[in-house]
Amino acid sequence: MRPTRAIIHLENLKHNIRSVQAWTAEHSPGPSTVRPKLCIAVKADAYGHGIVETARAAVECGTEYLAVATVDEAVQVREAGIALPLLLYSLPGTSEIPTVIAMRITPLVTDRAYVDALARESRAQGLRTSCHIKVDTGMGRIGCRPEDTITLVEAVRSHPELRLEGISTHYPMADHADERYTRDQTRRFASLIEDLRSRGVNPGLVHASNSGGVLRFPEGYFDMVRPGIMVYGYYPGPELDRPIDLKPVMEFRSKLVFVKKVATGTAISYGHTWKSDRDTWIGTVPCGYADGYPRLLSNRAQVWIDGRRCPVVGAVCMDQFMIDLGPDPPPERYTDVILFGPQHDKGGETPPDAAELAALCETIPYEITCSLSKRVPRIFTGELE
Ligand SMILES: Cc1ncc(COP(=O)(O)O)c(C=O)c1O
Repeated sequence: MRPTRAIIHLENLKHNIRSVQAWTAEHSPGPSTVRPKLCIAVKADAYGHGIVETARAAVECGTEYLAVATVDEAVQVREAGIALPLLLYSLPGTSEIPTVIAMRITPLVTDRAYVDALARESRAQGLRTSCHIKVDTGMGRIGCRPEDTITLVEAVRSHPELRLEGISTHYPMADHADERYTRDQTRRFASLIEDLRSRGVNPGLVHASNSGGVLRFPEGYFDMVRPGIMVYGYYPGPELDRPIDLKPVMEFRSKLVFVKKVATGTAISYGHTWKSDRDTWIGTVPCGYADGYPRLLSNRAQVWIDGRRCPVVGAVCMDQFMIDLGPDPPPERYTDVILFGPQHDKGGETPPDAAELAALCETIPYEITCSLSKRVPRIFTGELE
């Protein structure tokens, strides 16, 4: 096996899912024993963690729904034998609609033309398809205008091949320090639902909350919450309180494959952006931006090795980067190097996590875990020797 691999700590994933279930049960504005249903986002290969294994762990924890962004992702879940309801968060291409119907995927519908196309294909396949209406209450991405919701409800109801199973919206600002926008958005969405009810519409499952919503806006739980990043162990924004013990699920590891002593003034890697100011040991790690370790981390990040952190020196290359091990005798060749991952109790300093690397790259932890490329083997705990 390659020295560079991602260990996926499924025990941490399950811990996070159960923590979300406990948190929503505790904070739910409804009767105290009822928690909202849970829909876990496994799109983008489960934020880089492995869609099938993540979906299986989520099912084991009693999640009620899963969500994907593409039809191919839904097919992967179905082919793994997982029969749970599966929401399709993004819009498919027209040629993918037959698969949406055949694989019993639940689309989020946004407009009359899409509704009609789903109905036509359902009729052709002799199936009835459940769908949820997506209302745009502030994201500006997909979804009907709030005032058009009733027309879309009628469009769905006009087709006996379709069943209105839910109505949803999405929060663009739930991870921002200022709570006012999301509170107002939730009020507007709640009053839209009330208005539909007063017109005799049963909206089915009402849902809005991503991780930011789960953490901070219980009034937006409605019937179901839809977290993603928090089940993978990260908070959606750096400015938020951290009231839940979330444990990062992904650990990105490699090994020290080459070590050499260099003299003061030695320059390292492309562009010679770093020069040693003392005699020191330089280690090479066989991982680069083609694996998803961003080039922006050149001369910025640290890695963890043998209980201490060492700086990345010089430019991160496509397949390798270098670290400064210091002037003392270095760790042995093939010692494990942690690029990011959960805290551990092995003593010494703690490894960086994906949020630390994200901050160095001016991005979000989502992008760090999603960016691990296909050539990095995922090893799921439980399969470890
Ligand atoms: C519609 C929808 N709901 C929920 C989520 C989960 O968001 P998060 O990972 O911030 O919890 C996403 C992710 O982007 C989404 O697109």
